[in-house]
Amino acid sequence: MVCGVKTLGQFIIEKQADFPYAKGELSRLLRDIAIAAKIVNREVNKAGLVDILGDIGTTNIQGEEQKKLDVYANEQFIAALTSGGECCIVATEEENEIIHIESPVSQNAKYIVCIDPLDGSSNTDVNVAVGTIFSIYRRKSIDGKASLTDVLQKGTQQVAAGYIIYGSSTMLVYTTGKGVNGFTLDPSIGEFCLSHAEMKMPEVGYLYSINEGNYVHFPDGVKKYLKYCQVEDDATNRPYTSRYIGSMVGDIHRNLIKGGIYIYPTTSKSPSGKLRLLYECNPMAFIIEQAGGKASTGFERILDIEPTELHQRVPIFIGSKTMVEKAEEMMMIYTGAPKILNGKVEAQLENLGIVGGID
Ligand code: AHG
Ligand code: MN
Ligand code: MN
Repeated sequence: MVCGVKTLGQFIIEKQADFPYAKGELSRLLRDIAIAAKIVNREVNKAGLVDILGDIGTTNIQGEEQKKLDVYANEQFIAALTSGGECCIVATEEENEIIHIESPVSQNAKYIVCIDPLDGSSNTDVNVAVGTIFSIYRRKSIDGKASLTDVLQKGTQQVAAGYIIYGSSTMLVYTTGKGVNGFTLDPSIGEFCLSHAEMKMPEVGYLYSINEGNYVHFPDGVKKYLKYCQVEDDATNRPYTSRYIGSMVGDIHRNLIKGGIYIYPTTSKSPSGKLRLLYECNPMAFIIEQAGGKASTGFERILDIEPTELHQRVPIFIGSKTMVEKAEEMMMIYTGAPKILNGKVEAQLENLGIVGGID
């Protein structure tokens, strides 16, 4: 008997039964995202051959240079969500304001999509893995036009989240809150096929991923945790291995499979951290928690943060449960409990009396 592949489309339909009242809207939304992902994948793959590498000469709201592929991916996802008919608002890294989808087919759309269309875009020019991250909410308001308030929901309210990694092979990994499944794109048939069913993150890991060039700007708790990772101890398999490619999707995908921690903390230069809550941290936190891992700011669960701004940044410690817990312990002891002020996490430099030993 031939054992056939299971495509993403087939899998989504099969899983619709998990949601007894589902009318197929979320399934169609996931389908739309997968369509745009295939188009972006095609362009990422041939990037060296066509004029799509490099900067476009503009900056986004966060003052970051936009790459041509950032802009291309942004346009493709918005186009797919516009023609799909299930999304009423898109919030994207590449646009200052939320985008209302007002296509004729979107009159009754109930879903909000927050998206980082191209993550790790500084890696596109050098042929290193990049990704897309998406997060899906149901609008809260019932009547009229959905608004920013519908977008600013806590991560616990996500109905689905996922990422696409455009790597040596292209994968789509997603969750709807019932575990995590990964699909690899088979270019010969143009379909994402189930390749990583029920992904589970190792509870103990040996990889740590952080931009260590920023070491002098890290809070003491992070410096202490890094020392902990580097100390020799046979019983706990230390020193750990350092791996950092500068694509959150790539770094977290590797750690999800092998076991590890990814950290982008506050720094003295970026007091709220660098990564964005709505379209980077929340979706990755949802996926990692669903795979058995943990995600926190160092002090509180990422998914419990009440968002106040569209492009809000937060520090993140995400990965294997025991590693994140150890890092949190170091943060609590050496950096102190945080104060949440206007939605921004500020390290309260309240020393708990244990100092010293940091280079
Ligand atoms: P983006 O390309 O969407 O702006 O995201 C880049 C992010 C993240 O993917 C990556 O891990 C991090 O920025 C790298 O930052 P540093 O270069 O400061 O290490
Ligand atoms: Mn990003
Ligand atoms: Mn991006």
